[in-house]
Amino acid sequence: MAADKRIGILGSGDVAKQLGKGFAAHGYDVKLGTREPKKLEAWRKEAGGKVAVGSFAEAASHGPVVILATHGAATESVLDLAGPRNFSGKLVLDATNPLDLSHGMPPGLLFGLTDSLGERVQRKLPDAKVVKCFNTVSNLKMTHPEFSSGPARMWICGNDAASKRAAEEILQELGWAGALDVGGIDAARWLEAMVPLWARAGLALGTWEHMLQVVR
Ligand SMILES: NC(=O)c1ccc[n+]([C@@H]2O[C@H](COP(=O)([O-])OP(=O)(O)OC[C@H]3O[C@@H](n4cnc5c(N)ncnc54)[C@H](OP(=O)(O)O)[C@@H]3O)[C@@H](O)[C@H]2O)c1
Repeated sequence: MAADKRIGILGSGDVAKQLGKGFAAHGYDVKLGTREPKKLEAWRKEAGGKVAVGSFAEAASHGPVVILATHGAATESVLDLAGPRNFSGKLVLDATNPLDLSHGMPPGLLFGLTDSLGERVQRKLPDAKVVKCFNTVSNLKMTHPEFSSGPARMWICGNDAASKRAAEEILQELGWAGALDVGGIDAARWLEAMVPLWARAGLALGTWEHMLQVVR
């Protein structure tokens, strides 16, 4: 278990709220970041545990781990608002997806397959260790990884091996069987591309609580 349990979460949507509540339930000291802290007041009161709300910059400055849970198309401007220097040396778990919903459901990808939001985040935060994580599952499963088929591993990728090990330790603490590390941050193209496929599988199966896994 990490000694420093402070974690900043950039976002105010379902993902940030679920992660915030879930990490607080595991003893973390959580700060959510948003442009409008007031709108998270009700969430803060009902979340339980050690939770606070501040600006994007305050959440990014909060501790050694920062999670990105912002709208895909807005994520790079959120990093500008948060101040890229506030991420220096930190483990940044990137849960975002660059979904193109301009044609409705199921989604496409804003950057196609020749770039990814994970890579864009790493380019914008060159001094941070970005690990793509959490983006391939529903927010309902992120800190409650129970599946009827049994234990599951979280898809991750990133450039720094030690940071990926740290991410896996956090995942195991939350109940995940571990991480499935598919390479450098350039592999975010494929973890993000899983999401339009995940959505199509969800529409076919009539569920949003599934996950794509490797079986052998
Ligand atoms: N929903 C899921 O189950 C799920 C699962 C896996 C991954 N994801 C990914 O996780 C991310 C968060 O999803 P979500 O559904 O929780 O929330 P969301 O509605 O996609 O994003 C909400 C966040 O984006 C920020 N935002 C939106 N437009 C902005 C703008 N123009 N400028 C600055 N900030 C802006 C909001 O800031 P304010 O707080 O200031 O309003 C808020 O914090 C997305 O990238 C999504 O694809 C979602």
